[in-house]
Amino acid sequence: MTVAIPNPAAEPRPATPAEPAPAADDALHWSVAGFDIRLHTDPAVFRPTVTTGVLTSEVLRAGVSGRSALDLGCGSGPIAIALVKAGAAVVCASDLMPEACELTRRNAAANGVATRVEVLRGDLFEAVGDRRFDVVVDDVSGVAEEVAIVSSWFPPAVPLGGSDGTSLTVEMLRQSPRHLAPGGALWFPVLSLSNAARIVAVATEIYGGNVELVAAKLIPFSPELKDNLATLTRLREAGLISFEQVRSRLCWTLEIYRATAPA
Ligand SMILES: C[S@@+](CC[C@H](N)C(=O)[O-])C[C@H]1O[C@@H](n2cnc3c(N)ncnc32)[C@H](O)[C@@H]1O
Repeated sequence: MTVAIPNPAAEPRPATPAEPAPAADDALHWSVAGFDIRLHTDPAVFRPTVTTGVLTSEVLRAGVSGRSALDLGCGSGPIAIALVKAGAAVVCASDLMPEACELTRRNAAANGVATRVEVLRGDLFEAVGDRRFDVVVDDVSGVAEEVAIVSSWFPPAVPLGGSDGTSLTVEMLRQSPRHLAPGGALWFPVLSLSNAARIVAVATEIYGGNVELVAAKLIPFSPELKDNLATLTRLREAGLISFEQVRSRLCWTLEIYRATAPA
């Protein structure tokens, strides 16, 4: 499937649902697909980014009503809360970090969905045992380690995805078929700030032709990325990441994929 990549140099950067505005207390207001979600924060826990917003929008656009769903790598819980609000029948959220699990519980309560989100701590799918889901939304860390460090997206204790950013996502892909119900869908972001080709190759090895690119977006460099251009250029030369100049702006690419289990 071919997905047109918008050119950010040709149009103003669209207002995405992924740019949370800081609020007066320690909470963010995050909007996605018409849902307003209030998120308490913790300095130790990842905050939603553009990836969170685009990934969640695509999943909700496909529909989750009545489905069972897992938010894998839940961070502060935005995706799990959105899944409940969009009508998922069963929602689990899991993360390796206890602080993330605690914050997800707190945020589920703050959004009136505490009884609808089961929060479990564990490494990848370990927390859910042998359970299967109609929808798995993976958002474990997937950028090259050096990019994660300079980007300021990742608080220091959040686990990273190795030198090319693929290790957690590849392991997640390998385990994922055992956790999808028949016909179920695994959604995962692939950032060009990792070795994107390796992730797509592993997904294709596992799911064959049932891997679909559903969205792609050019994202202009943040000030932190611009300030670390020498590091990023070295990583690009080593084949670990990619990015491109679009008119006057440097951009990385965010892609959202869906892999579907046999019915
Ligand atoms: C990129 S953040 C995304 C958080 C959240 N989904 C969001 O968008 O705000 C990745 C999350 O995956 C978690 N994580 C990293 N490695 C993990 C693993 N092996 N098992 C479970 N969660 C993991 C991190 O603690 C972090 O909260």
